Amino acid sequence: MNKKELIARLNWFYSLELQQVDLYTAQSKHMENTYLSRTLARIAVIEQQHVDNIAAELRKRDAEPTRLGTVVAPVLGTVGGTVTGALGPKVVLKAGIALEEKAMQDYKDFILRAGDSQLFHLLWDNLIDEDLHTAWFINKLQELEYRH
Ligand SMILES: [Fe+2]
Ligand SMILES: [Fe+2]
Repeated sequence: MNKKELIARLNWFYSLELQQVDLYTAQSKHMENTYLSRTLARIAVIEQQHVDNIAAELRKRDAEPTRLGTVVAPVLGTVGGTVTGALGPKVVLKAGIALEEKAMQDYKDFILRAGDSQLFHLLWDNLIDEDLHTAWFINKLQELEYRH
């Protein structure tokens, strides 16, 4: 991957991570379930760390982090309730799983193609965080589905 492609890809991840922050923060505010609300808020903090670490990599390469248009709408569909959490915890968790799985797939692809040893550790760290989020969402969803 040449420098221009690398920067375009980093900006794509920068936008994806920003949207994760926005989504989880909005959902957190609308969840009645305290444990779910607090977990979403905590995950949003971790997504903000991803935003910051990707932004730092862009600046290291003399590129200004740039927010692209919506990059996750195709994953989430454009259901407003999904974003606000108005459709309830199960839909929120399912949307989270879809989003995290997309992020994980893209991180794996980027790790293989970036060809940049400096980026390697950072991409792995972010990937593992997304995997932990996915695991928690799946676990919580199973708990809710078992209960109701
Ligand atoms: Fe993330
Ligand atoms: Fe995540």
